[in-house]
Amino acid sequence: MNYKDILKNGKSKIAVWGTGYIGLSTMAFFSKSKIKCVGYDIDKKKVAVINSGKLPIKELKDWFGFDIKNSVNKKYLTATSNHNIFEDNSFNVHFIAIPTEKNGKPFFDILFNVLEKLIKIVRKKNKIKPVIIIESTLTPQCSEKKIIPYFKKNNLKPGKDFIYGVAPRRDWFVEGTKSLVDIDRVFGSTDIKSSKIIKDILSIVCKNLHEATSHKVSEMVKSIENAYRHMEITLANQLSLAYPNENMREVLKLVGTKWNVGTYHPGFGTGGYCIPLSSQYVLKEIKNKSKLTLLRETIKTDTNINILIAKSLIKKGYKKIGVLGLSYKGNLKVDILSPVIPFVKHLRSKGINVSLFDPYYSNKEIAKIVGVKSFKYPQDLSKFDCIVISIDHKEFKANIKNITKYLTNCKYILDNMKVWEKINFPKHITYKISGEKNWI
Ligand SMILES: NC(=O)c1ccc[n+]([C@@H]2O[C@H](COP(=O)([O-])OP(=O)(O)OC[C@H]3O[C@@H](n4cnc5c(N)ncnc54)[C@H](O)[C@@H]3O)[C@@H](O)[C@H]2O)c1
Repeated sequence: MNYKDILKNGKSKIAVWGTGYIGLSTMAFFSKSKIKCVGYDIDKKKVAVINSGKLPIKELKDWFGFDIKNSVNKKYLTATSNHNIFEDNSFNVHFIAIPTEKNGKPFFDILFNVLEKLIKIVRKKNKIKPVIIIESTLTPQCSEKKIIPYFKKNNLKPGKDFIYGVAPRRDWFVEGTKSLVDIDRVFGSTDIKSSKIIKDILSIVCKNLHEATSHKVSEMVKSIENAYRHMEITLANQLSLAYPNENMREVLKLVGTKWNVGTYHPGFGTGGYCIPLSSQYVLKEIKNKSKLTLLRETIKTDTNINILIAKSLIKKGYKKIGVLGLSYKGNLKVDILSPVIPFVKHLRSKGINVSLFDPYYSNKEIAKIVGVKSFKYPQDLSKFDCIVISIDHKEFKANIKNITKYLTNCKYILDNMKVWEKINFPKHITYKISGEKNWI
């Protein structure tokens, strides 16, 4: 069976489970190649927005580099909150893009909820074998220990009754240059024939595919590549804590000029869907505590660094702190595991008068996520004796020429991303970039 052909000639369709960043982007790119894609999501609002031709996550437009409206109008891209439609024989390829983490931990209940529905579909013994491609992040050995045994318990074998592939995503949604088309992508399957099928399907969109010898390998790649980053980012903070009286920011910038070393800087630590969880993913099946101690220490330091920063500000005596930025990264509205959340909560728990502004979040959202009030930017900056800039949203960099006129009561600015480094601050303000001498 040539899946590429049947998808291209419209005999077959793609079903996508979960229409968030990953699922919607899969739908957007395949539908642009004139493949019919239907995305299922439990979030009815999201389904309605997609079906109206709009993006529920606005920033995705820059990353895609095109609009989904055309695909929606031509019915190549639709969303649904009724997964039963996938029982139709024309849905032969299933991409799984639901969350596999909850509260900062790997979490597989949703995945198994989806697999339960897929088992019904696979059992129908359609003459075209269903293809299941997992895009969500898995822990190492999850396929072998959990997913495949689950199918086998239902008398369904990969390769025989369905095609199984693991093709994790490593997109960087901030930069348009790293799109699903161009980014290097690893995939693997249970046998050579299945692997060829997965490759054929992915190659409709992805130009740079790397075939792993098995699904076990491709599954491990995802968490291990991020665990490397987790460790390197955290090492910058450990170095800064070990040498508090040195400008570790400068040292690491120069270290990064070496041809085979990345550039890292001390700061608030990691956030988002992937990096903070990666070490936990790698450690998930490792019961022996003496193994992978580097990753165990990484998790400890990375989880604690934002609390140490909060404690240092309290120790310095600041009482009214204004925080700029809730997202974990600039120019994005993503607060999943943002280190700013525990940072603000710690300050609040110690009685500090703390407020937060993020142009991507409403006052209500800010109150719900961190339990503090928002403030008017830049006018209300005058209320604070300390300002913390956690990320580099473009709004924080814009029109800052006269920002000092709002800093009448400010004594200290901690800038995690060098957002205000070009400003000449008056003498009453100490301006510190994270990682500089005595920043923490
Ligand atoms: N966002 C990234 O940058 C990124 C990068 C690489 C890998 N991943 C991985 O991809 C997976 C999905 O991430 P995401 O960023 O797209 O998440 P997301 O939160 O943006 O989207 C997940 C979607 O799944 C939906 N959903 C939840 N339960 C469902 C269910 N039972 N059935 C159908 N839909 C359901 C949610 O409503 C949501 O729309 C995760 O495993 C994540 O680790 C994400």
